[in-house]
Amino acid sequence: MCGIVGYIGHQQAWEIIIKGLHRLEYRGYDSAGVALLDNDGQLNIYKKAGKVSDLEAYAANKDLYGMLGMGHTRWATHGIPSDRNSHPHTSGDGRLSIIHNGIIENYAVIKEALLAKGHQFSSDTDTEVLIHLIEEIKDHEQVILEEAVRIALNRVIGAYAIVVMSKDEPDLLIAARKGSPLVIGVGLREYFIASDASPIIEYTKNVIYLKDNEIAYLRRDELVVKTIDNKVQTPYIQELDLKLEMLEKGGYDHFMLKEIYEQPRSVRDCMRGRIYPDSGEVQLGGIKEYAEKLKNVDRIIIVACGTSWHAGLVGEYLIEEYARVSVEVEYASEFRYRNPIITEKDIVIAISQSGETADTMAAITLAKEKGATIFGICNVVGSSIPRISHAGVYTHAGPEIGVASTKAFTAQVTALTLLAFYIAKLRGQIKRSDLTYLLTELNNIPNEIQKALAANDGIKQIAHHFTGSRNCLFLGRGSGFPVALEGALKLKEISYIHAEGYPAAEMKHGPIALIDEEMPVIFIATKNSSYEKVISNIQEVKARKGVVIAIVTKGDKHVKAIADYVIEIPESNEAFLPLLAIIPLQLLSYHIAVMRGCNVDQPRNLAKSVTVE
Ligand code: F6R
Repeated sequence: MCGIVGYIGHQQAWEIIIKGLHRLEYRGYDSAGVALLDNDGQLNIYKKAGKVSDLEAYAANKDLYGMLGMGHTRWATHGIPSDRNSHPHTSGDGRLSIIHNGIIENYAVIKEALLAKGHQFSSDTDTEVLIHLIEEIKDHEQVILEEAVRIALNRVIGAYAIVVMSKDEPDLLIAARKGSPLVIGVGLREYFIASDASPIIEYTKNVIYLKDNEIAYLRRDELVVKTIDNKVQTPYIQELDLKLEMLEKGGYDHFMLKEIYEQPRSVRDCMRGRIYPDSGEVQLGGIKEYAEKLKNVDRIIIVACGTSWHAGLVGEYLIEEYARVSVEVEYASEFRYRNPIITEKDIVIAISQSGETADTMAAITLAKEKGATIFGICNVVGSSIPRISHAGVYTHAGPEIGVASTKAFTAQVTALTLLAFYIAKLRGQIKRSDLTYLLTELNNIPNEIQKALAANDGIKQIAHHFTGSRNCLFLGRGSGFPVALEGALKLKEISYIHAEGYPAAEMKHGPIALIDEEMPVIFIATKNSSYEKVISNIQEVKARKGVVIAIVTKGDKHVKAIADYVIEIPESNEAFLPLLAIIPLQLLSYHIAVMRGCNVDQPRNLAKSVTVE
């Protein structure tokens, strides 16, 4: 979604904001804008459709002076990407300006009322309506800006993270959130605001995560946080555990490639301090209070979106296999709208890299209202989902900047694997010797991922043959099926090649009609319980002249004999297959997309954290 940066202090705001917008560009990248205010109340706003670099080029010779300012990268919701729809937006008299991430759901009603009062709008956005509402309240209810913002926020329905500034207040930035994240960096006589901590980290490690329905009033010498009911809050300042190098490409051409290569480390970080192979133990401190509940649970519901939903499907296989608890995996967006049956006995697990996905948030809010126990499996520490969950497991993959999720997926699968073993042990479903064996193998998976990455050059060669493909099928069985889904999602989102993931056996019930010599079919054909069956499915494709690329276990001969291309991954227990089989699929998608000239880190129309429903 949109990215927000704000600054008030004694440094020039432009540099801080532009650098911050570059760091946040992964959140939204169809337009960008900055507002700067100098001490004399001179307000300059520069905005442009396109990338942050287009904005920089546009503003290059303009007046960039100002020690107070705010900037925005947009992911369009209301109104096409254009200069006029870019943020910041201003009030009718041009004295107030605003940047906003989220959606004002009742904007049409408010706009109508404002139009009747003579307001004129110069964009199609809901955001412009909000700043006009603030102006209207300030001028006609005769209140100061702080109060006008507060009153306006009480009148809007929807989600927002906003920053407001005024020509008349060169020592005031107002920030507020409801449903969209905002972090405040606390410096010495200076404050930073951002959608996440990445624009802040190089200036200060001390941050405050603003809570829903809170408004922060920032002056150089003072920070006051109140609720939208006007109750003063004592903000909790915490220290960031984030290093600058985690936010940079570190010599790789793209963040996505860096993040693919980080997986041996990120999977290890996810397991660190949690597995004890020698004693056959898994420790998950974040949920240990709920051990009794887990021991007796009859049903677990997993809610998530996109890649996280695919991780959830892997979790279903693992939890059912090892812990013998029934698991349902739901698209968070659908779950919420179909009056689901949830009871106090259920455990609902929300999986989310960002911890901010609106659909997932809405699903767990509903489940919580119905009395379920909520666990979060999230990557971004301090994000909204962990905060509204009863308990959870952080994935510790580190910041994921590439919009297409890679290392977050394997970390989620790792966390779910740990959870499956943890519940299995609590419920007495697994022998200690078996657990010791599995944990020993899991502990070695980062090394095996490293070996899987070594196939990169061969994968690049294979990628050359498919840069012109228009469609692609990904097939797998068992836990290879979610891997196929995830492989297909990776390819379509970054290369714009249409791709479908299917259970391999389902192919003959429909998709087989698509197979001809133009259709690449990617099989997860590793040596596991469905190996022979998958070989039959490969034969079916070959019989129809399809082109087969197979992910096989190292040393495989049978599949090699029939497939057109094979990519080897190390042998492993079936439980860990998804952690290895996804690696070549990530690399294949990456290379095909790069060869097609696509922007792999910022694919068109996508946003990293989707904070609208
Ligand atoms: C795909 C991708 C998305 C996200 C989805 C959920 O590469 O990144 O499908 O997985 O938007 O996001 P989170 O995990 O942040 O809830």
